[in-house]
Amino acid sequence: MKVILSDHAGFCWGVKRAIRLTEESLDAYTDRPIYASGDIIHNRQVNELFSKKGLMFESDITQYDSRGVFIVRSHGLAQNTRTAVQEKGLEIIDTTCPFVDRVRKRLEELLQDGYYIVVCGKKGHPEVSHLVEGLKDDQYTVARNSAELESSLTGWNTHTKIGLISQTTQSQEMFDEIQERLQETCTDLRIYNTICHATIERQSVVRELAPQCDAMIVVGGKNSSNTKNLLQICLEYQPHSIHIEDVDELQQLGEEWFKNINTVGVTAGASTPDNIIDSVVTWLKNYSDTTS
Ligand code: F3S
Repeated sequence: MKVILSDHAGFCWGVKRAIRLTEESLDAYTDRPIYASGDIIHNRQVNELFSKKGLMFESDITQYDSRGVFIVRSHGLAQNTRTAVQEKGLEIIDTTCPFVDRVRKRLEELLQDGYYIVVCGKKGHPEVSHLVEGLKDDQYTVARNSAELESSLTGWNTHTKIGLISQTTQSQEMFDEIQERLQETCTDLRIYNTICHATIERQSVVRELAPQCDAMIVVGGKNSSNTKNLLQICLEYQPHSIHIEDVDELQQLGEEWFKNINTVGVTAGASTPDNIIDSVVTWLKNYSDTTS
């Protein structure tokens, strides 16, 4: 069995930056409590490591010690939460990815120019919550695809001026689908494709690799949006595709899963560490050696 690791698998620039800033803070502020309101990145192992080094995951601001340090995650932070943390007196270390900031700026431009906002993304995802924070219900809607847009209760189709933006890790296919649906009815549509470069790069590499393989393995956190989107793309080209979090899940697949596979492709989400990807590739190569 041939094992092909896709180019650009694993950490993106924004995730590396968030990890570096968090590590530096944990090293620098050993005498002060350090908080984050949730996962720094969508990877269990990395967050567990931070927790061992003293990072406290706590979403309830009332529990924070005012001498503490607060780490803003790469997905960004709602302004009202930021203000509340600042008013409590904590120092803020901001790891928000600049690409996420750029989307928020685009959204503000659209609002200023009187556009109703359609965000192509997942409702409730931390990045999307940060983006739409403070907007009234009749100013925006969030949809992952055209079916969700159709069932949106906010009356998007009554607006003549619509601005389309995207969660940075959304799939290009879903963005195109929503764009096409909006173009059917909207007379004044302004489009900002704000899917980040790292996501576009990973998705396009997978579109080329998956059709050449008999199976695809996508490695990444189960709550990682960009990993789930990579799986969807793999499934379009290769139905024998699976999403695993680590090598333990791979070992549990059993021989049946690997039957008739000559070539297996491996890719990984933007928050998957190299050591996890390496262990998956090594396991596959060993499996191949022992079964051939
Ligand atoms: Fe930033 Fe894109 Fe990575 S938004 S955190 S570079 S996936």
